[in-house]
Amino acid sequence: MALLEIKDLKVKVEDSLILKGVSLTINKGETHAIMGPNGSGKSTLALVLMGHPEYEVVGGDILFEGRSILDLSPDERAKLGIFLAFQYPYEIEGVRVSQMMWKAVQSLGWDMGPVEFRRLLRSYYEQLGIGDFIDREVNVGFSGGEKKRSEVAQLLTLKPKLAILDEIDSGLDIDAVRIVGGAINRAKEENPNLSVLLITHYQRILNYVKPDKVHVMVDGRIVLTGGYDLSLRLEAEGYEGIVRSLRAS
Ligand SMILES: Nc1ncnc2c1ncn2[C@@H]1O[C@H](COP(=O)(O)OP(=O)(O)O)[C@@H](O)[C@H]1O
Ligand SMILES: [Mg+2]
Repeated sequence: MALLEIKDLKVKVEDSLILKGVSLTINKGETHAIMGPNGSGKSTLALVLMGHPEYEVVGGDILFEGRSILDLSPDERAKLGIFLAFQYPYEIEGVRVSQMMWKAVQSLGWDMGPVEFRRLLRSYYEQLGIGDFIDREVNVGFSGGEKKRSEVAQLLTLKPKLAILDEIDSGLDIDAVRIVGGAINRAKEENPNLSVLLITHYQRILNYVKPDKVHVMVDGRIVLTGGYDLSLRLEAEGYEGIVRSLRAS
């Protein structure tokens, strides 16, 4: 059975139609990449999958494990096993990473004491090279790259079924892309059923996290789907080249 099935999804933001009929099926354990130019609707898709209230679904459906999740709140979706790493992670003053994550696992009903959990959380943050950050306020004063590392450490900790990673590689230097890519792969090794929806501008991260499918989104639609090769072609030809050749054909 498909883990996630997006059917002809149409989404409005502030009265303009941003997603104009997106269909996408992700099976258990698959990694899909979505690439596309700025403003094509990639983050809109990520946010609407998580249930962001500003984004209005005006057509189509989103099924998770076979049932529609459109009526569910973001926390209910998280409890089903959907995880979103934001393109622009929010800063939460006055709340430490460890406090936020402890709340998260408590609401997931994990049977684990606070000391044991702290040790686990720290071990994942250490894998991302930011062990001490668990005692800092969530994302406050983090660099762009540190925010991204923190999001991936949260992914490793929470063990979702579906990880939506919105530009997890933006703001990362070459070494950090390798570290983050390696961590995503470890999450997949730990849980072979983990499905990943990886939104990215750059082909580089796909050298580490190999996608089963690559989709190109332009102007609120998926205009092209292929394999890893398509990401190489995009890098070489650019989105404009691809779009031009689509129009010509
Ligand atoms: N909250 C919002 N309010 C107004 N416009 C928005 C909002 N979110 C997205 N948009 C618009 O929707 C379009 C797609 O944006 P986005 O999904 O962020 O694209 P991408 O992630 O592909 O760069 C853009 O034109 C953007 O300005
Ligand atoms: Mg975006």
